[in-house]
Amino acid sequence: LKRVPLIAGNWKMNLDHLQSIAFVQKLAWTLKDANHDFGSDGAEVVVFPPFTDLRSVQTLVAADKLRVRFGGQDLSEHDSGAYTGEISGAFLSSLDCRYVLVGHSERRTMHGETDEQLSRKVTAAIRHGLVPVLCVGETADDLEQHGPSAVPVAQLKAGLAGISGEPEIVVAYEPVWAIGSGKAATPEQAEQVAGRLRETLAEVVGENVAAATRILYGGSVKSANIASLMREPNIDGALVGGASLEVAEFASISRFS
Ligand code: G3H
Repeated sequence: LKRVPLIAGNWKMNLDHLQSIAFVQKLAWTLKDANHDFGSDGAEVVVFPPFTDLRSVQTLVAADKLRVRFGGQDLSEHDSGAYTGEISGAFLSSLDCRYVLVGHSERRTMHGETDEQLSRKVTAAIRHGLVPVLCVGETADDLEQHGPSAVPVAQLKAGLAGISGEPEIVVAYEPVWAIGSGKAATPEQAEQVAGRLRETLAEVVGENVAAATRILYGGSVKSANIASLMREPNIDGALVGGASLEVAEFASISRFS
């Protein structure tokens, strides 16, 4: 089974709505100039802008038929109602988002998001026709105390606890110690955990979903290390933070070079 590689750029809290238009336009041109072949041999390219940029990006992508997809950085576990400051998956869907990040480590640590809550966010995403990109990963302390796979595997199991059937999901393995540190996991380290995550998917949601699910690596991905990561059999793409804010660099990463 062929899994289409996925290169995702998480802008975090960067680029306002005007900057997002300029950025996406330039990215699309750069990919086009490089004859980037979206979704056949080439990677599917997705950006995760702040919520306030989504409408601008949607309009631009739709009007110019740009070969870039987009998604939300988070969603509410609820569908609508008195939840000040929250964003419903329904709103993301109606803006043509295809993906939504769930449980990024910054949400887990800075906003206290729990595995139970994230499991409800995963099911909310699926309910609204979005593909959840469930982020898992161990801290440096976890690594020392429990080894590389225990925490990501437990987070994956907990995050998927509420799903039924065979929904499309994406898993992003992001060791917390590698995020924004300039110290990426080696391809061998990332592959070891990605392999365990795929085995876990097979146990929890079955072989079909395990075989179809794209597992991304995230944490200090750059054009200099993407090619070696992509050579690993269980790594199907990358979730890129800092380097996704530089057009040329992100375009290179999208071509694995
Ligand atoms: O969502 C992206 C990750 O947090 C990785 O960030 O590429 O800046 O290390 P980074």
